[in-house]
Amino acid sequence: MNAPKKVIIDCDPGIDDALALMLALSSPELEILGITVVCGNVPAHMGAENALKVLKMMGRMDIPVFIGEQSPLVRTYVDAMDTHGDDGLGESHYPQVTEIRPSEGAVQFLARTLRDAAEAPDEKKISIIALGPMTNIASLIRQYPDSLAGLDELVSMGGSYKSHGNCSPVAEYNYWCDPHAAKEVYEAFSTLTGKQIHMVGLDVTREIVLTPNLLEYMQCLNPERGEFIRRITRFYFDFHWKQEGIIGCVINDPLAVAYFIDRTMCSGFSAHTEVETEGICLGQTVVDDHDFWKREKNSVILTKTDSMRFMKFFFTRVIGACEEQVLEGLMGRVMR
Ligand code: RIB
Ligand code: CA
Repeated sequence: MNAPKKVIIDCDPGIDDALALMLALSSPELEILGITVVCGNVPAHMGAENALKVLKMMGRMDIPVFIGEQSPLVRTYVDAMDTHGDDGLGESHYPQVTEIRPSEGAVQFLARTLRDAAEAPDEKKISIIALGPMTNIASLIRQYPDSLAGLDELVSMGGSYKSHGNCSPVAEYNYWCDPHAAKEVYEAFSTLTGKQIHMVGLDVTREIVLTPNLLEYMQCLNPERGEFIRRITRFYFDFHWKQEGIIGCVINDPLAVAYFIDRTMCSGFSAHTEVETEGICLGQTVVDDHDFWKREKNSVILTKTDSMRFMKFFFTRVIGACEEQVLEGLMGRVMR
């Protein structure tokens, strides 16, 4: 196996962020240098507390957590606690972690970590998996533009190409919450030679649905982690039934982690993408899929994925299921 890839996970935990962190922490391909938290699903301080709860549950309180931006660049901050609960983890109300505490200065942590890698060979540079609004990343670029020399890749859960939005007919929450940040990050990548944002948008994440059967199966195979997942997702199940009329919950963020590790998890195409920052389409990702504007292809837009493949990936790593158990369970339970 190649040396683990150095990553920083920027997130807004958040229920699906928590599942994404569990997947990342269960993946030997990653060396997680730190977790930076941004205002999004919940205020940044609460998100940092939730990141610590996941690290404690996973036995990884060696990984530092940093609190980042507490409001979007321009817009008034709008959280998503209606979806993630008043504690941001589905009102599971796990106790606050006291053994370790988060630090301030997420943007400064990002800057110094990337700067230290500026002269490193590509495989030693730092990648960012962004699972929330892009406010921390935009602030990094504004305050420390040279730090991007140490960046290997940026994978962002956000946006939507052809799928409908989840905050408006056209806008996905991460880019709707802070459209100015998303705009600035995509613009910055238009001038970074050879770098693209890998956009894991609603077109692919909507395929990843955690169903009651799968949740029950997780609890059978791994009672401790299954119980944690059950407790943090029950609120999410209720929300999805009311909001989207589905039995289960779309778990967006873990797909971004899975794709970062295994690029065949999703497929798509390169294009120039811009983000709308005003009017009724605020937060929309406008993907120039026919190259009208002849602009740099600053993004890889992912449009296809394989949900069964993802579930196998998640079950074997997070739940510790063997391949046979996964296939039997997925086929058996999904078919039942
Ligand atoms: O639109 C879904 C995204 O917004 C996910 O990352 C979810 O956690 C929220 O941040
Ligand atoms: Ca998120």
